Amino acid sequence: MTQPKKTWSDRFETSLHPAIAIFNASIGFDIELIEYDLTGSVAHATMLAHTGIISSEEGDTLVKGLEQIRQEYRDGNFNPGVDAEDVHFAVERRLTELVGDVGKKLHTARSRNDQVGTDIRLYLRDKIRDIQQQVRDFQTALLTHAENHVETLIPGYTHLQRAQPISLAHHLMAYFQMAQRDWERLEDVFKRTNISPLGCGALAGTTFPIDRHYSAELLNFDRPYQNSLDGVSDRDFAIEFSAAASLIMVHLSRMSEEMIFWASKEFSFITLKDSCATGSSIMPQKKNPDIPELVRGKTGRVFGNLQALLVLMKGLPLAYNKDLQDDKEGLFDTVKTVQGCLEAMTILLSEGIEFKTTRLEEAVNEDFSNATDVADYLAGKGVPFREAYNLVGKVVKTSIAADKLLKDLTMDEWKALHPAFEEDIYAAIAPKQVVAARNSYGGTGFEQVRLAIADAKKIMD
Ligand code: ARG
Repeated sequence: MTQPKKTWSDRFETSLHPAIAIFNASIGFDIELIEYDLTGSVAHATMLAHTGIISSEEGDTLVKGLEQIRQEYRDGNFNPGVDAEDVHFAVERRLTELVGDVGKKLHTARSRNDQVGTDIRLYLRDKIRDIQQQVRDFQTALLTHAENHVETLIPGYTHLQRAQPISLAHHLMAYFQMAQRDWERLEDVFKRTNISPLGCGALAGTTFPIDRHYSAELLNFDRPYQNSLDGVSDRDFAIEFSAAASLIMVHLSRMSEEMIFWASKEFSFITLKDSCATGSSIMPQKKNPDIPELVRGKTGRVFGNLQALLVLMKGLPLAYNKDLQDDKEGLFDTVKTVQGCLEAMTILLSEGIEFKTTRLEEAVNEDFSNATDVADYLAGKGVPFREAYNLVGKVVKTSIAADKLLKDLTMDEWKALHPAFEEDIYAAIAPKQVVAARNSYGGTGFEQVRLAIADAKKIMD
């Protein structure tokens, strides 16, 4: 296969080895950036005309040509092959075909290094906003369930052992809070993504009288990078984003894990609706929680992409190195994975599950998760807490042996344990009361949960 003429072919004796051309090319994946590449080039051309580096007619011609390529791409008629090497060359080549020699002026005062840096930031900026909206949708789904289930009780766990009953809304609102921090983290990453490297050149700036503030403004960047070496070689914003994405996945994965066992026969806290579950090819009775399993599984990929980017960067001397071409696939994969997982989990939450309230009611009534409340009861009557705690420990032990729950003890039995017990012990250890009584700030008491929901609604407005 003969290679087409490379941009730099006048400097080289022979053309690139065909296998190396393929190895070197990024067009297979950086085509994803084309819309951002065009937008960046439009701003660059506009700036070149604005500063008189090219004439305004030339500027107009370039912009028109670039917009024509955008249309061709959207119509499915722009499909550059590996011979184009990357999206930047592909666009420049097509532009020159379309508008003639003026097309060759586009790259004045610019390098692919600041160009690709601009493209990735424009891309990520968009994706950050999209993902933030998806986080909001996920929070809305949580909030809707929470509002319906303030007084639905569910066992609360530590060490996956029944600990104390809690409000189901309180459980769900914990995820709301995690998602809120995820949203805020993205807001923060946005600030450090929204800086323009355009005009940093290959590494050292340019001899042309460009206006970097102007091109930054055209692209809605907050400001240009202050140091050209930093501008072309920095990817810390992408690492921060990948870390923020990893934390979103940590949260989705934890929730997935709960959904998976909640849907099991052993727990039976939720039913999966048919629209969000799958069957087995061999066991006719099965209904599988594929969505949360996939989310839990895909979490590893997102962590891996973060790790890959960190390792990619750690040994790079200033400024641009071709290693940086390898920043993209993992980043794109992270964006797609997080978006897919957020969408699936939001659908699962909003229409794919139903809480089995009768079963939840049974669950909080069939255990010793009100034991702390017996100790608190005595402590409230002046018995030192540790003493009360030890006494209740013994009661639990003898009750288990007698196959009884605390609510089954007779008044005589309570009195025999400690004279401070009165008739009101039964009310004090009823699950609803147990939950309602935890009215400390941030606790599961219904009053607190209602406050938390009201605060959350304010955030969402
Ligand atoms: N495809 C390259 C990348 O993604 C564009 C920048 C190439 N720069 C260079 N000096 N070879 O990083």
